[in-house]
Amino acid sequence: MTEEFLSRSPEETREYARRFAATLQSGDRVCLKGQLGAGKTEFMKGIAECFNCSGEISSPTFSLFNIYHGSRRGEPVELHHFDLYRIERVGELDAIGFEEYLFGPHIAVVEWGDRFAEYRSSYTVTVFLDHAGDTARRIVITR
Ligand SMILES: Nc1ncnc2c1ncn2[C@@H]1O[C@H](COP(=O)(O)OP(=O)(O)O)[C@@H](O)[C@H]1O
Ligand SMILES: [Mg+2]
Repeated sequence: MTEEFLSRSPEETREYARRFAATLQSGDRVCLKGQLGAGKTEFMKGIAECFNCSGEISSPTFSLFNIYHGSRRGEPVELHHFDLYRIERVGELDAIGFEEYLFGPHIAVVEWGDRFAEYRSSYTVTVFLDHAGDTARRIVITR
């Protein structure tokens, strides 16, 4: 199932991401793909807004991953946010136990999730963001 949206601003991307996040369940693994600056982190911010933990979001490019504790309708939601941009070999992921963080009772969102072939089939949903002009982005969600 594929869904497409043309975002005209960072705000529209976050709003679309908030609506998308409302459909996520614990155990979902989201692959965010697209070039640098396509809006993957912006989209992640929208997801975090949906779970009331948007204040802390930054790109985990240097820390590899962040864990946020949010909530939805009074229920706790755990959100794992990864960025594989700086990972050079899949062995580095195996070494930190990436698979255990990915597959667990939480929602995982992985920027550059398509970087390593070994993990490409691990996701329950893929979000592709593409430049479509200065402040326009094409967003394609595939489940
Ligand atoms: N429609 C849009 N959606 C998302 N980001 C946009 C949009 N228009 C402009 N931008 C800008 O593009 C940049 C996207 O950065 P970021 O989300 O960090 O990208 P990525 O994580 O994919 O490298 C931000 O500076 C944001 O303000
Ligand atoms: Mg990013």
